[in-house]
Amino acid sequence: MTIVKCDNVHKYFRAGRALTGRTAGKVKAVEGVSLEIEKGESFGLVGESGCGKTTLGKVILGILKPDIGKVRLDTQRPQVVFQDPQNSLDPRMRVSDIIAEGIAVGGEGRGRVQQKVDEVLDLVRLPRSSLAKYPHQFSGGERQRIAIARAIVTGPDLIVCDEPVSSLDMTVQVEILRLLKDLQKRLSMTYLFISHDLRVIKFMCDRVAVMRYGKIVETGTAQHVYSHPTHPYTKLLLSSVLDICPSKNQFL
Ligand SMILES: Nc1ncnc2c1ncn2[C@@H]1O[C@H](COP(=O)(O)OP(=O)(O)O)[C@@H](O)[C@H]1O
Ligand SMILES: [Mg+2]
Repeated sequence: MTIVKCDNVHKYFRAGRALTGRTAGKVKAVEGVSLEIEKGESFGLVGESGCGKTTLGKVILGILKPDIGKVRLDTQRPQVVFQDPQNSLDPRMRVSDIIAEGIAVGGEGRGRVQQKVDEVLDLVRLPRSSLAKYPHQFSGGERQRIAIARAIVTGPDLIVCDEPVSSLDMTVQVEILRLLKDLQKRLSMTYLFISHDLRVIKFMCDRVAVMRYGKIVETGTAQHVYSHPTHPYTKLLLSSVLDICPSKNQFL
């Protein structure tokens, strides 16, 4: 069953003078993307910085409207985990309120809200003592656990994970990726997993789409795309990972 269907999605931005050095033009952030994500899978979107991944994620979430094309979502409750938990968590709110925010709106009783908050705190493996604290009292990895708790507390069936580990140290990255993988299985969620890092995508995803300059240039099972890349750009991406840090390829 399909949970996300993008049909010929285009998204443009007006380019400022500062960006281009010339008079205003159009940035073609997403240009004609069609894709389908199946319920329960982890679908990877990989490509270099600036290729349009975040824009496509936001169009899928309904945060941005496509200029051309359509998105069909078969879920009422999509959630998102962003790259930088420092910016995505309100510094003035206690963790208990950050996590409860999503469900409190649903008009649930206080006891039930508390119970759900406790449950997700256990799921992301943070101690109860975290609830009374503020985001700045945690490490980057712990903050990302809080952001994940906030996302899963609403019982989403789809989460867009946009570079969720890119601001973390390598060992913490592995911890958070393992947690996300475990949660996906346990809670039967679908992931749209966005990363510029091919190793992260390989570790996390069943299927993968390679994006370049706003377009999908190659798509297939992760195993197939990594072992038999057909597009020259995919080959280039793969070879650069292997060249730059052969010793760090713990995911490949
Ligand atoms: N709000 C915006 N206004 C103008 N340009 C934008 C905006 N958001 C993104 N862009 C541009 O669109 C392109 C794609 O950006 P983005 O989707 O963030 O790429 P990625 O997530 O792959 O790094 C980039 O050229 C970026 O500068
Ligand atoms: Mg991005």
